[in-house]
Amino acid sequence: MYHHFFRQTLQSFGLVGLLAGFNFTPTYLHASASSDADALLAQMTLDEKIGQMVQVDSAALKDKADVRKYFLGSVLSGGGSDPADNSPATWKKLTDEFQAQALQTRLKIPLLYGVDAVHGHNNIDGAVIFPHHIGLGATHDAKLIERAERVAAEEVAGTGVRWAFAPCIAVARDVRWGRTYESFGSSPELVGELGAAAVRGLQGEVLGKNSVLACAKHFAGDGGTTNGQDEGDTVCDEATFRKMFVTPYEPSIKAGVGSIMVSFNSWNGVKMHGNKHLLTEVLKSEMGFQGFLVSDWAAIDQLGTNYQADIEMSINAGLDMIMIPAGPGEGHNYAEFIADLKDSITLGKISPTRIDDAVRRILTVKYQMGVFENPWTDPALTAKIGSPEHRAVARECVRESLVLLKNEQQMLPLKKDLKHLAVVGSAADDLGIQCGGWTIDWQGKVGNVMSGGTTLLAALKKSVSTNTEIIYSPDGSDLKSADAIIVVVGEPPYAEMKGDRADLNLAAADADLIAKAKATGAPVVTLLYSGRPLVLGKSLETSDAFIAAWLPGTEGEGITDVLFGDFKPAGKLPRPWPHDNSELNCAAFAAPATSPLFASGFGLTYDADMKPKEFKTAALHE
Ligand code: BGC
Ligand code: BGC
Repeated sequence: MYHHFFRQTLQSFGLVGLLAGFNFTPTYLHASASSDADALLAQMTLDEKIGQMVQVDSAALKDKADVRKYFLGSVLSGGGSDPADNSPATWKKLTDEFQAQALQTRLKIPLLYGVDAVHGHNNIDGAVIFPHHIGLGATHDAKLIERAERVAAEEVAGTGVRWAFAPCIAVARDVRWGRTYESFGSSPELVGELGAAAVRGLQGEVLGKNSVLACAKHFAGDGGTTNGQDEGDTVCDEATFRKMFVTPYEPSIKAGVGSIMVSFNSWNGVKMHGNKHLLTEVLKSEMGFQGFLVSDWAAIDQLGTNYQADIEMSINAGLDMIMIPAGPGEGHNYAEFIADLKDSITLGKISPTRIDDAVRRILTVKYQMGVFENPWTDPALTAKIGSPEHRAVARECVRESLVLLKNEQQMLPLKKDLKHLAVVGSAADDLGIQCGGWTIDWQGKVGNVMSGGTTLLAALKKSVSTNTEIIYSPDGSDLKSADAIIVVVGEPPYAEMKGDRADLNLAAADADLIAKAKATGAPVVTLLYSGRPLVLGKSLETSDAFIAAWLPGTEGEGITDVLFGDFKPAGKLPRPWPHDNSELNCAAFAAPATSPLFASGFGLTYDADMKPKEFKTAALHE
């Protein structure tokens, strides 16, 4: 048997390539990943096994050598854990330094670095930012999503990161939930199908050397909590829970998703991180999930009052790797976790078989992905981060995601040679608002958050004729001569924990801007940047044309593609659009008597004569 140790020796003498040249097939290739994992497992001490089960946030690792000291299996960067100079080159250097520590351990097991690349490689300056999932959901285009996630995967791998905590396959049922934009839509079928497309994009057809490990999240019921409360409780019987929140994982499992993240939320009052029935019996045994389960950010700490008991409960429930954001001296931290887990095993509270199962799952994925042979960043990929070819795919996603809700008198498409085109609303020239949460910062932020990218205003300037004057008046005070007015309104950036809202009325200031534009007598097209449908009130009537643009990301030219008619609008609502705040939960439409303002599947387009035409797909996704 050509086992791991022998291989390391061969590698250090450069013999692997030589043997490969002689058509020698070493056993660590993909087909034998699980037997390789077994062979390696047989050599591991308990400390080495425990280390593989630990994932620490880079900000908590004050000393990188702790990767070596504790045999850590994984490091992550959470939403805000970026290096000071947030460039691709710095990221590559950082992840390579962590990897170098892992490769100095006795068994030289490489680590997997993970990030929340949830709409492109969104922590990194200069990366291409794609529309958030809600916009991708509006494309209803699985092939396009697969291509988009392949681009994202290449950007991720270009910084030495081989694991993305994506796709989110939440079925958001209540738009009060601040993570609604991370959900492809309100139907489990749509979410299941598009989630699997994203998995194929990130990983490829099988887990291999070009894969970025996908992580379907958050299992399960995250989008069904009462009142849309983040990390709340989803209350329903098991049949409903399975149909709505568990079945969307099936297509991703079929597509070979290598990891799944467990959710913060509870189901009928029981925290998912302690739910052995759903994690082990349903997900692993019944559904045949072969990858590994990772916990969410310090989520096991919420199980009870005693950390040791939390550890036992979560690992016995089926968690394989634990995400730990705290370092020594910071509360429940990785050193404490490691010591406690060891005690629990020694005391017989967690069986060695359970530990072996967890570690075998993690190692198998690492072998499948070829990180043993290839632990370093590919510099060719680093160079392609933010490239024009990558941006072109994101631009395509943007134009396919726009949902035209109204187009009175065929106001759209606009002519490129209008004399005076006015643009209102500061969001028109703000990359931060255009991208939303999970962009550079955890919560995202207003302003020009990153280099590269094109705001809508910049895209407009590129599109219009040389005779056209663009009047940019953020507060709408200078609109007199306009032939047409584009008003850009919406939600400021937010992310988990901070985005829950009970009142989803369009902000009064935004409604005023639209009214002010309309008062000039010029036709008004309103563009809405938002993570969810908002209650539009009079503003829909006031606007001659209205586009839901979601959170489109860095490629503003995808919007001008449609505004000027180079491409027809193709997006269709991935969820119903409410009339008012009483309809924010999808259950509000369960009664046949109630219908939303716009049903799922609604979206107008331009026909050959540029006449508005309605898609006939309203019944598709309830
Ligand atoms: C979120 C996850 C995310 C993780 C790491 C958690 O708070 O719920 O979606 O992957 O943090 O940043
Ligand atoms: C991190 C996020 C994480 C969140 C949860 C933030 O500080 O950057 O990644 O999801 O905390 O509390």
